[in-house]
Amino acid sequence: MALIALGVSGGIGAYKAVEVARGLQQAGHDVVAIMTASAHQFVGRVTFEAITHRRVITDQFEAGANADIEHIALATDMAALVVAPATANIIGKLALGIADDFLTSLYLATRAPVLVAPAMNTNMFGHEAVVQNLATLRQRGVHIVGPGEGYLACGWIGQGRLAEPADVVAATDAIVRPAASLTGRRILVTAGPTYEDLDPVRYLGNRSSGRMGLAVAAEAVRRGARVVLVLGPSTLDPPREAEVIRVRSAAEMHQAVMTRAREADAVVMAAAVADYAVQGGPEPQKISKTTNGGQDDSERPWSLTLTRTADILADLGAWRSDRDRPVLVGFAAETQDVVARATAKLARKGIDLVVANDVSRADAGFEVDTNAAVLVDAAGATELPLQLKTTLAGAILDRIETRLRDTDPTEPQTPDQTVPPGSDGDLHEPS
Ligand code: CTP
Repeated sequence: MALIALGVSGGIGAYKAVEVARGLQQAGHDVVAIMTASAHQFVGRVTFEAITHRRVITDQFEAGANADIEHIALATDMAALVVAPATANIIGKLALGIADDFLTSLYLATRAPVLVAPAMNTNMFGHEAVVQNLATLRQRGVHIVGPGEGYLACGWIGQGRLAEPADVVAATDAIVRPAASLTGRRILVTAGPTYEDLDPVRYLGNRSSGRMGLAVAAEAVRRGARVVLVLGPSTLDPPREAEVIRVRSAAEMHQAVMTRAREADAVVMAAAVADYAVQGGPEPQKISKTTNGGQDDSERPWSLTLTRTADILADLGAWRSDRDRPVLVGFAAETQDVVARATAKLARKGIDLVVANDVSRADAGFEVDTNAAVLVDAAGATELPLQLKTTLAGAILDRIETRLRDTDPTEPQTPDQTVPPGSDGDLHEPS
């Protein structure tokens, strides 16, 4: 998954930028929208926030904005800056290096590739000033997509219409997709929480959003891997290229993982799997206050008996035993003694890498875009700075790539023939 900054300037095509944001997400990218002051005349920030699941950046002097790592890190972390629509005004500012708002400052601050999708009236587009400004940008290596020809909002027919959103997405994708370092590899990723049902309307869940696992899946896709994503109940969109297996409970996730682990070069268990489920499984009918004890007694407490779920990662570790494949990566959410506990987990589960994070920090762990992780393997612990989950996903996959190369410098290994315990027996042969 690449992080794309989508700059929206104030033209009638601004509403189409919503479709661009959506398309970029469907292509597996993470999008941060940046609106110029005049863009608000055409489309609301809430629309972009709802689609990108991120705060929209509108003002570089907004209270709190400069204390926010996501905001500051954008210039270095983003894989591309896309300006769609780009008005004659913004094109002029970019060409001249005027930095009087967040978007124009970001353009000067970043070394990421830039794509501009001009949209304006035909005469404006043909004006020598705009022609020269676009030529300047082109010479500087800025990519330009469109504009298209057709009926313009001002009533004219001619050149100036914003390129189709699908074309802007395709042009962006072509820029950010690097040489595929995981081509030929199969990566199994789990993401999201699991829900343990009590009855048809209630469940035990946890605060995992699925962001970390989805970031790993999208980054693996971007690097050319074939990705199977076993996804618990998450409201986020998985990358389109991944094969997604939706599950709900820990038991369903266990079966899905065990069934598909055999064909994987690496398994990344980013899901927050429930450690406990209701003993005997969910009640078939809704539990009511009266069925709980026979009478509606407001004083009567309700006790649930929970039993341990199977530890998927530990089962994978035991099944893989002393072989090299699949490489096994687990996560550890800790509130104290992070490295010591992660090191113990590495040995106990028989895995290759533990991504440990201190979930007592407000800026790391659940429901946020950033994470401060320590990578723990047999060689020791490496503390990583607070960074976007999309960047951390890259660091995890770098480790996996190194391990795959070290254990097999040539080709992906033949998948193991032993059947993992708990798989559904209907083994999916690599195709
Ligand atoms: N995991 C799993 N199966 C479970 C529970 C967890 O595969 N039933 C995986 C998670 O996906 C994660 C790692 O194991 O990769 C987390 O390890 P776990 O022992 O559950 O750690 P915590 O829940 O963080 O903590 P604790 O050991 O303190 O309970």
